[in-house]
Amino acid sequence: MGQHNKVRKAVLPVAGLGTRFLPATKVVPKEMLPVVDKPIIQYVVDEAIEAGIEHFVFVTGRNKHVIEDYFDIQYELESTLKARNKNAELSLLANMLPTAGTATFTRQQEPHGLGHAVWCAREIVGPEPFALILPDMVMEAEKPCLKGMMEVYEVAGGNVISVEECDPELAHKYGIVGIGDAVGNGFKITEMVEKPEKGTAPSNYFINGRYILQPEIFPILAETQRGAGNEIQLTDGMLELAQKQDFYGYKFDGQTFDCGSKEGFILANVALALKRDDIRPKVENELKALIAALK
Ligand code: UTP
Repeated sequence: MGQHNKVRKAVLPVAGLGTRFLPATKVVPKEMLPVVDKPIIQYVVDEAIEAGIEHFVFVTGRNKHVIEDYFDIQYELESTLKARNKNAELSLLANMLPTAGTATFTRQQEPHGLGHAVWCAREIVGPEPFALILPDMVMEAEKPCLKGMMEVYEVAGGNVISVEECDPELAHKYGIVGIGDAVGNGFKITEMVEKPEKGTAPSNYFINGRYILQPEIFPILAETQRGAGNEIQLTDGMLELAQKQDFYGYKFDGQTFDCGSKEGFILANVALALKRDDIRPKVENELKALIAALK
């Protein structure tokens, strides 16, 4: 074993039903909805590749096979593009294709919660630390979130969670951490509380959807009882693991868009379109006009 075992694999749970986005998600998984011109899932895969992830474990469900197709060759489309000399489009498709054997798909047969979805990846992840990425959280930053977390992990080891500040008045809606001593670019987490009662939160830093976890989480999740919403909650599993192992926090410096919500999804589209030189001029002008027309 090295000083800290390398994080090679990322688990992407995509088995949720996406009920907040019905009817759009009746047949199209929310992870396949486009932000500008890429499906949501592509943003998180790109972030993970930049952090050095070598293997993707998708925990899917029925109705999600299109995600598997998305990460495969589409012969008919590609031969038509070839015949039409559409070389830019062809190389775009080739560049996003994972190397054969580096993406694995397993099904969570019933949506028993995020903790259960993570547990479904146990055989594929095996006895090594792994990144857990909630794909509906699209993050935009100079330094990709998972990359920053890896830097904390390299110094501290253990388990690493990404956090960011929220309005203290809204802390009761989130999983909140207590802030301890600095460790490398991160800090020691002193406590974790899921949806603290108003006025009792240990800080206003909330857990925002990126984790590096040790494999000892799996046997704990196997035993974790159903919690809120009658689902197996990841936080309950992490709280038990925290009794035996250290947890560190990474303060994410960037913008997070919760694309599982309508507002977050629309904001992600607007914000990322405004970052694109080819799209910005028209979008910016027309947005200004739309807002001016509201007044
Ligand atoms: P959400 O809380 O966003 O739930 O899940 P959801 O079902 O996807 O969406 P809504 O709330 O009904 O609109 C957070 C993450 O956990 C995954 C989801 O796919 C999402 O990435 N998840 C959740 C599972 O994989 N399985 C589950 O049983 C629950």
